[in-house]
Amino acid sequence: MAIRDILIVPDLRLKQVSTPVEQVDDDLRALMDDMLETMYDAPGIGLAAIQIGVAKRVIVMDLSREDEPREPRYFVNPEILSSADELQPYEEGCLSVPDIFDEVERPARVRLRYLNYQGELIEEDAEGMYAVCIQHEMDHLDGVLFIDHLSRLKRDRAVAKVKKAVRAA
Ligand code: NI
Repeated sequence: MAIRDILIVPDLRLKQVSTPVEQVDDDLRALMDDMLETMYDAPGIGLAAIQIGVAKRVIVMDLSREDEPREPRYFVNPEILSSADELQPYEEGCLSVPDIFDEVERPARVRLRYLNYQGELIEEDAEGMYAVCIQHEMDHLDGVLFIDHLSRLKRDRAVAKVKKAVRAA
């Protein structure tokens, strides 16, 4: 396992649309292991493969609290089958947009289908934090960041702030 570099805005690779994975094999599991380690190191609760520059439809996530045992989740080729009409606002952040937080409204519940770490097909419902996180991460697979859901002014301000912080580092 290895910790990889996380791409930061305005890196254009973050705008790429990721391609579906053909099969869940040991090479893909090695990628997911690296993604998980990178996410824990950051630290963050979700990471899409494109955030380490790999344009594959793969996500890792762990929503356990600090005082709980780790609970890694892996999503390969995730799809949203249906979404609730009800919207829920949540203050989001992103490892690719460090230190910026803002409220985004998304469907409160979604029904999902994906392949897990073993390549098994899973169908399940997500709500609460899980629903927020999976929708945020799935946006990454289509080249969309949470700041793209904000006004143009807020988005430009966020990118400028990140660039300034990166220059100062
Ligand atoms: Ni993100």
